[in-house]
Amino acid sequence: EIKKRSDYQQPDFLINHVDLEFTLAETSTKVICVSQVTRNGLHNRPLILDGEGIELLSVHINGIEVSNYQQTENSLTIDTDSNEFELRIVNIINPKDNSSLEGLYLSAGAYCTQCEAEGFRKITYFLDRPDVLAKYDVTIIADKKNFPFLLSNGNKVDSGELPDSMHWVKWSDPFNKPCYLFALVAGDFDLLEDQFVTQSGRTIALELFVDKGMLSRGQHALDSLKKAMRWDETEFGLEYDLDIYMIVAVDFFNMGAMENKGLNVFNSKFVLADAQTATDEDYFNIEAVIAHEYFHNWTGNRVTCRDWFQLSLKEGLTVFRDQQFSADMSSPIVNRIQNVRIIRERQFAEDASTMSHPIRPDEVIEMNNFYTVTVYDKGAEVIRMLFTLLGKTGFLAGIKLYFKRFDGQAVTCDDFVQAMQDANDKDLSQFRRWYSQSGTPKVVVTDSYDPSAKTYQITFEQQHSATFDQNEKQDLVIPIQFSLLNDKLELIKLGDAKQQQKMLELHDSKQSLEFKNIDSKPIPSLLHGFSAPVKLDYPYSQQQLGNVMLGSPDEFARWDAGQKLFSDCIHDLAGKTQQQQKDSINQTVAMFEPIIEATDISLALKAEILTLPSFETLFQQMDTVDIDGLNQSRKLLFKALAQKFQNNWLTQYSKFEKQPYAYQANQVEQRKMRNLALKYLTLSGQHDVEQLLIEQFNGADNMTDSLAVLGAAQLGDLDLFEKLMLLFEQKWHNDPLVLDKWFALHANTERPDILARISMLMGHSQFTINNPNRVRALIGTFSFFNVSGFHNIDGSGYKFVADYLIKLNEVNPQIAARIITPLIQWQKVDKVRQQLMQHQLMRIGDTKGLSNDLFEKISKSLP
Ligand code: ARG
Ligand code: ZN
Repeated sequence: EIKKRSDYQQPDFLINHVDLEFTLAETSTKVICVSQVTRNGLHNRPLILDGEGIELLSVHINGIEVSNYQQTENSLTIDTDSNEFELRIVNIINPKDNSSLEGLYLSAGAYCTQCEAEGFRKITYFLDRPDVLAKYDVTIIADKKNFPFLLSNGNKVDSGELPDSMHWVKWSDPFNKPCYLFALVAGDFDLLEDQFVTQSGRTIALELFVDKGMLSRGQHALDSLKKAMRWDETEFGLEYDLDIYMIVAVDFFNMGAMENKGLNVFNSKFVLADAQTATDEDYFNIEAVIAHEYFHNWTGNRVTCRDWFQLSLKEGLTVFRDQQFSADMSSPIVNRIQNVRIIRERQFAEDASTMSHPIRPDEVIEMNNFYTVTVYDKGAEVIRMLFTLLGKTGFLAGIKLYFKRFDGQAVTCDDFVQAMQDANDKDLSQFRRWYSQSGTPKVVVTDSYDPSAKTYQITFEQQHSATFDQNEKQDLVIPIQFSLLNDKLELIKLGDAKQQQKMLELHDSKQSLEFKNIDSKPIPSLLHGFSAPVKLDYPYSQQQLGNVMLGSPDEFARWDAGQKLFSDCIHDLAGKTQQQQKDSINQTVAMFEPIIEATDISLALKAEILTLPSFETLFQQMDTVDIDGLNQSRKLLFKALAQKFQNNWLTQYSKFEKQPYAYQANQVEQRKMRNLALKYLTLSGQHDVEQLLIEQFNGADNMTDSLAVLGAAQLGDLDLFEKLMLLFEQKWHNDPLVLDKWFALHANTERPDILARISMLMGHSQFTINNPNRVRALIGTFSFFNVSGFHNIDGSGYKFVADYLIKLNEVNPQIAARIITPLIQWQKVDKVRQQLMQHQLMRIGDTKGLSNDLFEKISKSLP
């Protein structure tokens, strides 16, 4: 069933108070849900509640049992004349057999819930939509020995003992919330406690619950939470509102984490860290996800979404906020580069596929399919453009007005933009098109210089092509930050002020700017900071790119120019003779020599510039892709960089003094450079590199350095790689989160017997199809990143993934629909592969009991 944004209607009934009682039992948990219901408006339609997989025991209205209700597979219809009544529903659910990890389920013995987007209907019959806001009182009854902790939203208000070693706890959440923010957790945990004093002087209790024995791995998450709380106060003036903030880490979780009011539930991957088991990247992600969920308390919970089409209202804004936070906590440029990589690798891919949709989708079959890089990350780019257009002060004024108007309400993206518009007295009507238009805009830049008149003209043109979901496109408002360099790499002053960076608001299809008194033809340094999520097209010569890379005032533009040098080189190798390839590679590689020596950039940026664009990024730069050719070309350049700078890599590798591990900026960047150098050294075939690898593997006091060895060894002699992998497995076989890194490394190794290897790993004692982290590590990594294996021209990779998805469909449709992504992105590959991919999609499509999740993606992607 397709739901349309334009069909939105207010709910027929409202629920303003909910009293829930859970008696927990593995296969038959009893739920009593007492709702205070009022009719919304003058009508005599019946009350239709959502519900799925629920065993209904009884329905009472105002204390009187009713039986004239109708049940379907996903609804309960109750006809009543009352305009205001108490509805009591008693039902049974089965958490143990709930492998979808939506609703109430068991995660390694602990009960937990995931209700966003539409999971609450798997707990009880309810108006499961975000514009029904209620206050919740929740009582949980369970066995005390196995479930000493019984948690829900808000404040703990009462508790007591019961016969048969049972106990109960009652929670009350004073804030109105939609049911997707409801949470329940019951289990036995280790508890890490702390406090936070808000800017207004209130003391908040902080509680972090982790698996038994994991206490020492929780400190970084807790520290991150305190940083996020402080940052939201100082940057946005937003303070926490309850007296307690709880985070529970669970092992079975579909996504990263969930912002349930006062009780966040997290994938343990985004909580647990120590030097031995987590990489620098893990530390970074934990800080970011902890902050993201915390920031949702205002952007998401205090002001929520009217309907699920508005998801980007909270997600785009909250991702933008967590990106700003991360930038403030570490290196802004490295952060920005990471954000842009996600857009170019994954969001551009989504927009080029049959799943293309605007950040505010118009049509949805399964909402879980729209927790996408478009809604989240492109959504954040759209917020960032507002920030750029309005300036920090104007943006914050808009945020202030937004909360003043909408606190406690469920609203739309339009409401948000209107607040921005009104607070700044700026017409944003054309800007709003970003919310309704899908696709990646192209900005074509041309210029001309008149030496006699000393004038320079630069023209920007926006181009939009049809996407799978939309034919008609309109012009957008595209902020383009740029500057001009002269041939001595000096900045040219633009305009009257001392301003050296200019922002053009491109709103027409074509706009030109003219600059006077320009002595020589300038080099434009364009799209500073990636000021808009577009593809930029300017006919740069190699020399010009080299100049931007070395001389631009904007670090992002410097990195981007380097990336373009690499990409141009890779794309141009096709169709060349070996000698020509060699020459052109040498020429490109030589341009990076000054970067290795540069002293005007951080080590972190240096490492980023010296990292080749990913296969996925290169893929998105082309209209049609010769998979094997592209893979080969990228490898040629990779190897040439390794060999040409062999001595430099050795210097970079050896030059930093080793310190005991700390997650700390200067150490992180040194490890990054060292480990990049190690990769290049391995690839260069440097004669004693095995020695280096083994030494680092044995000597490492942290996971970043150990894992880097494996990542490098994977590019060299596979015998050594296998040996080290074996040692790694022996050391970590009882630690599934660490083992995920090992599964993933296996899964993206280039080897002829890759499918046999993965099949074998599926039999590993730690692997289970029921755990999303394991499935993502092994099967997800293969399908997303193992280019040669997944895209094997014999079709075996596609078939392998399809076979697996047919099984996963039964267990966890949400995860299956994530992992199918590479298979539906057949649009740019050759005809042979297209057919092979489509054939597998058809096979999955024929599966009996196909989930909505897979159905939606498959039906859209078959011609
Ligand atoms: N709101 C959560 C977050 O971004 C994600 C929830 C995902 N839910 C889902 N059904 N896909 O933090
Ligand atoms: Zn979120």
